[in-house]
Amino acid sequence: QRLGVGLAHSKLILIGEHSVVYQKPAIALPFEAVFSEVKVEPSNGAVTLASHFYNGKLAQLPDKLQGLRHVIEKACYINQQPVKDFKLTLTSTIPIGRGLGSSASIAASLARGIFDYFKKELSLSVLRELVDVSETYAHGTPSGIDREAVISDEPVWFIKGQAVESIEVKEPLNIIVADTGRIGDTHAAVSAVNARRQSEPEVTNQLLEDLEKLTENARTLLKTGDLKALGHVLTTSHEKLKALGVSDEGLDRYVDISLSNGAVGAKLTGGGRGGCMIALTASTEQALAVEQALLKAGAKETWYIQLTNGVKTD
Ligand code: MEV
Repeated sequence: QRLGVGLAHSKLILIGEHSVVYQKPAIALPFEAVFSEVKVEPSNGAVTLASHFYNGKLAQLPDKLQGLRHVIEKACYINQQPVKDFKLTLTSTIPIGRGLGSSASIAASLARGIFDYFKKELSLSVLRELVDVSETYAHGTPSGIDREAVISDEPVWFIKGQAVESIEVKEPLNIIVADTGRIGDTHAAVSAVNARRQSEPEVTNQLLEDLEKLTENARTLLKTGDLKALGHVLTTSHEKLKALGVSDEGLDRYVDISLSNGAVGAKLTGGGRGGCMIALTASTEQALAVEQALLKAGAKETWYIQLTNGVKTD
């Protein structure tokens, strides 16, 4: 029996979220602890999708999931196949709306699964195009960083509209990721920054430039392996994001708790206003202490990752 399988991991933004929308650089990491998996099998008639957020016919997907329908239809179109006679089962362990790139990851796994089902090679450029279809629905004007981060197995240096570059990571990074459990609306946060750029151009543009400089510093510090200085850069970038208006009390509290429990740096990650934060620590021991403190503070879920030149997950 014919079967197609598609997999895609989630992502973390180490630094540069929001400013990346304005042509500034950002650094993203693959996050393999949570991922999406799509299984494609033959069936009769209309295409159906089974998942934890929707179960039914593709044609009846609710408005906010139309992006997924377009990815599936476009993938069939490129394969010169009719949109019928198969069923999709999607399993995603990525919490939705937490800045972990769930929408991009789901789109990538759907595209990969459908191409695998039709036994057709999926080029990187077509994969990018398909993920963009869904991202445009989910986020309005995405920079494209989520797309690159979920399809890459390496940390990436990203500038909108340019080819991604891989980056050098000299010392292993011990990172704790904590989910506040609260949904952050990336679309709304991006729009709010844009509105602020109109109403307070000077302050806002200065913050975006500060974030650009911090991101460039972070790249250098990753290369030289100066973790303490890198931690400081990450925390400073959180302060800038806070000033931009995309943090919230809960995220600020987790950042403070991480720092007072030995993290060398901490910040929100992704769209903000809820969602997840990351803490950089100098050792495994320290990482586990920070993780315990964040769980005690009420974090819904935490993960420990060790990043070398690629990402390894514990
Ligand atoms: C979302 O992961 C990152 C943002 O910068 C939005 C984007 O780049 O599309 C907030």
